Amino acid sequence: MAEQTAGLTQRPAWKLLQEHYEKIRNLHLREMFRDDPGRGEYFAVEAAGLYLDYSKHRVTDETMRLLFALADECGLRARIDAMFAGEKINLTEKRAVLHIALRAPRGESIKVDGEDVVPAVHEVLDRMADFSRRIRDGSWQGHTGRRIRNVINIGIGGSDLGPVMAYEALRYYSDRNLTVRFVSNVDGTDFAEATRDLDPAETLFIISSKTFTTLETMTNARTAREWSLAGLRDENAIAKHFVAVSTNAAEVAKFGIDTRNMFGFWDWVGGRYSMDSAIGLSTMVAIGPENFRAMLSGFHAIDEHFRTAPPERNLPVIMGLLSVWYNDFFGAQTVGVFPYEQYLKRFPAYLQQLTMESNGKHVTLDGRHVDYQTGPIFWGEPGTNGQHSFYQLIHQGTKLIPCDFIAFCRTLNPLGRHHDLLIANVFAQAEALAFGKTLEQVKAEGTPDWLAPHRVCEGNRPSTVILADQLTPETLGKLVALYEHSVFTQGVIWNIDSFDQWGVELGKVLAQKIIPELEGGAPLRHDSSTNRLIERYRNRRAAC
Ligand code: F6P
Repeated sequence: MAEQTAGLTQRPAWKLLQEHYEKIRNLHLREMFRDDPGRGEYFAVEAAGLYLDYSKHRVTDETMRLLFALADECGLRARIDAMFAGEKINLTEKRAVLHIALRAPRGESIKVDGEDVVPAVHEVLDRMADFSRRIRDGSWQGHTGRRIRNVINIGIGGSDLGPVMAYEALRYYSDRNLTVRFVSNVDGTDFAEATRDLDPAETLFIISSKTFTTLETMTNARTAREWSLAGLRDENAIAKHFVAVSTNAAEVAKFGIDTRNMFGFWDWVGGRYSMDSAIGLSTMVAIGPENFRAMLSGFHAIDEHFRTAPPERNLPVIMGLLSVWYNDFFGAQTVGVFPYEQYLKRFPAYLQQLTMESNGKHVTLDGRHVDYQTGPIFWGEPGTNGQHSFYQLIHQGTKLIPCDFIAFCRTLNPLGRHHDLLIANVFAQAEALAFGKTLEQVKAEGTPDWLAPHRVCEGNRPSTVILADQLTPETLGKLVALYEHSVFTQGVIWNIDSFDQWGVELGKVLAQKIIPELEGGAPLRHDSSTNRLIERYRNRRAAC
C-alpha cells in the first residue's frame, strides 16, 4: 500500500518516460514505418478473437517497455488480483468491485466478505431468463389478458446507457415483434415521445435504478404509473405492467411494485458496470436468454485474458497504457471512438459514462491533489458519418486526438458493396491520419503553390484499429470488457478511485434546493446570476 501513495511523477519509470518522450516527440510515423517495416505485425495483438493493431501509435519498443515498467511500479498486477479477489478496492465507498462476478460461469467461486457471490448471480440470471421467456412467448399477459408487445426501460446513467447501447448493438438478434424503448431524461418529452403510440394494456415498464431514489428515474416511473392507470383504470394492473431492477427492496415496495417482481443486484456492482446484472433485463427480453448468456461469455473471455495474460500480450493493459501515454506526455485532451458499425451507434455514449465517470478524478486514493492529468474526454460517432463532419479537425486541426477505430470483417446485413466500402474507409482513415500527405506530394500532383499548404496533411496522428469477425452478443461482451479493463488500468496508474462518482452529487443537491423555488416561489438566496435566471424563468413561464 505504501507503494500506492508514492507520487506518480516521482516514479523512476515516469521520469524515464518523460526523457524518452522528449526524444521521440517529433518522430514521425512515416519514419517509424520506414525504419521498421514490420511494425504492422509486431505492434499487433490478438485475444479471444479481438485483433488490436496499435502499430500506428507514436511508440517504439522502448516506449512500450517503459510503459510496462510504469504499470509494474504502480502495482497493476496486485490491483488486478485484488479486484478479482473481491477486495474493497472502491476505497471511498468501501466496496468491492466485482462486475467480473456477473459473468463468472456457474460453479466458479468469488467471495465478498467470505461469501461466494456466484450462486446468487446465477439465481438472478435464471429468474431473468424465466421472466424474459414469458414475455417473449406471451405467457406473461397484461392486466386485460393482452400480450405484452412493448417494453420500456426507465433508468438513467448506468441504468440506461448499458441497456440502450446493448439493445441497439444487438438489435439484429432481437425479437422484432417487441417494441423496446428507453426513457431516461427528466425532460417530459422523453416519456411523451416514447409512449405516444403505445397501448398501456400491451406495455410493460422495467424501472431500473440501483438506488431507486434517482430523481429522473423516479419522476419518470411515477409518470409511467399514472399513464398506465389512466389507460387500465385498476391499481391491480401495476403488478402486470411494472417490474423493478434495484438493490433497494424497501424503496421498490414503497413505490408500489411487488418485490416478487423485483430483480436484485448488489452494492459491489457499480452503476456504469451493471449492464450484465439485472440492469440488463431489457436486453435479455429483447435478445433472449441464450444470446444474453453468450454476451456474458464474451465478457468472461476478456476478464480471463486481462487476469492472466502478460502485459505485453494484454489488450486492455496495452490500450490503457497508450491512453496514459497520450494523456500525460503528449497532453492530448480527448480520445475519439469511431465504430464502423451502425449497430454500435450508442457505443461512444456508453463509453463516455464508463470512462469519464470512472476516471474524471482530481485526487489520488489517499486524497492528495494530482499533479498530472487524469481521465481524457471520450467522444465519437459511428463511421462513416463522422468523416463528413468533424474528421477535418482530426486530420488538419491543431489538436492531437488519438482515435479508436472499431470494425468487423463480416456484416450482419450484406448489401452489395456496402461492407467493403465501409471497411475501405476505416482502413483509409487510419492510414491517412498516420502518414498524411507532404507538401512535396501535394505539389507533385500539380497543385498550385498558393493552394498546396491547405492540402497538406501532416499525419503523425495516432490510432488503434480493433478488428473482430462479426458483431455478435459474444463480441459485444468482449468489446465492453476490453474498455472496462482499460479504464481500470488507467485508474491504477493515476492512483485514483475509478469506482466512485462524488462529483455528480453537488448538482443533484443544488437542484433539490431550486425545485421548490421554481414550484413555490420561495425567496432566492443564490448568486446574482442564478437568482436572475430563476426569476426570469418564473416570470416568463407565467407570461407564455
Ligand atoms: O448520477 C450518477 C449515477 O449515480 C450513476 O453512477 C448511475 O449509473 C446513475 O446515477 C443512476 O443511478 P441509479 O441506478 O441509482 O438510478
